[in-house]
Amino acid sequence: MPNKKGIDIDGLPSNLFFCTKLIDILKEEASSKLLTITVKTIFGLEDVLVEELNELGYPKIDRLNRAVQLKGTWRDVYYLNLHLRCAISILVEVKVFKIRNEDDLYNQCMKIDWTKYFSIDKTFAIKGAVFSEMFNHTQYPFFVVKDAIADTFRNKMNDRPDVNVKSPQVMFDVYINKDVVTISLNTSGAPLFQRGYREEIGLAPLNEVVAAGLIRMSGWDRKSTFVDPFCGSGTLLIEAALLAANIPSMIERQHYAFKNFEGFDADLWESIRAEVNTRVTSLPCEIIGSDISDEMVTKTRRNLRGLSVGRFVKTEVKPFADVKELNAPGVMISNPPYGERMGEEIDELYGQLGDWMKSDMKGFDCWILSSNMEAFKFVGLRPERKVKMYNGDLECSFRKYSIYEGSKKGKYMNNGNSEKEQD
Ligand SMILES: C[S@@+](CC[C@H](N)C(=O)[O-])C[C@H]1O[C@@H](n2cnc3c(N)ncnc32)[C@H](O)[C@@H]1O
Repeated sequence: MPNKKGIDIDGLPSNLFFCTKLIDILKEEASSKLLTITVKTIFGLEDVLVEELNELGYPKIDRLNRAVQLKGTWRDVYYLNLHLRCAISILVEVKVFKIRNEDDLYNQCMKIDWTKYFSIDKTFAIKGAVFSEMFNHTQYPFFVVKDAIADTFRNKMNDRPDVNVKSPQVMFDVYINKDVVTISLNTSGAPLFQRGYREEIGLAPLNEVVAAGLIRMSGWDRKSTFVDPFCGSGTLLIEAALLAANIPSMIERQHYAFKNFEGFDADLWESIRAEVNTRVTSLPCEIIGSDISDEMVTKTRRNLRGLSVGRFVKTEVKPFADVKELNAPGVMISNPPYGERMGEEIDELYGQLGDWMKSDMKGFDCWILSSNMEAFKFVGLRPERKVKMYNGDLECSFRKYSIYEGSKKGKYMNNGNSEKEQD
């Protein structure tokens, strides 16, 4: 507290004390006007998403389960939809409230002026997650919210917008945790792994967000060699090339739900897109992909063709064992077959993979993603790290084998199960 002499107990002159107080109050008020932005991701990618946001200039991030949260403006919402590689969708909070029963949910939703968010000619859908004993059927709360939206429009305009579950123009997210309901706008719409660059899909393509997350997790410096000798349709190669060239993974995507919400600022969006430099004259690293299947390599090449970075990625048809004389240091990330298809000699393949890494990948950090825990044992090297991940519904392990030049023989022990999985 300031004393009579105008000096407060901390020794600050009183006018300075009030100035700093005022700044705090103004800051608090400004931040209360900011949007609460929730960025959803895939299990295991929360930390790399925080890292990615920090790198993009967002230092204050709250880490949640399969999501992170920050404060921001609509400019940030547009910017993050375009730039985040490890996000599935970006939500903007509309209202948070408590309920005691289903009627409360409807009544609280009727207090929201939904006509403020979208016009009657747009189709809409409700998605989300429910963790509450109040509802026996997890889809039921979404019907309640849908009814409230329709009724709000009807009361105001004598008509209602249509629902379109498959490809809605606007989407709302309803998250119920016990008695707390959070209603948000889903500003992305279709999940952000739909990058817009994929023409061709392989037999078991990696989710693009998972691919981006694995690359970031590997700590690849974007300067040393990047290699995927099981490239399939090329997801890892494409995500690595876009990252190295500093081009957003979403550069080809046109659809975002935020374009259909009321108040969409097309000029602001265009200015954010215009800031992206898409002209690439070279890459700061070598990116090399190969696959035993010529059909797969053709798919990779077709996918690369549509991108300005595509011409810098080298691709070849060959078995991994024939991949030799790569420029170290570097990082290899692959998801080899998991052995779900009949007739795959999976143990033998993982055994040969371990031998090849030992002899031909010196100076590389080799990362393997697989759901086949038995097959991992045949690699015959001790993993330096094991991370639990999901590829779709499949629980996988992402394992790092550092292949040193000579010495460090201790790394090459015949024990694939010696370390605990991190999650
Ligand atoms: C799970 S898929 C990889 C998918 C890829 N990450 C993508 O996003 O499309 C495994 C790939 O390994 C390839 N493959 C199988 N045996 C191989 C071998 N011995 N050498 C190189 N590639 C092989 C298959 O043709 C297949 O494309």
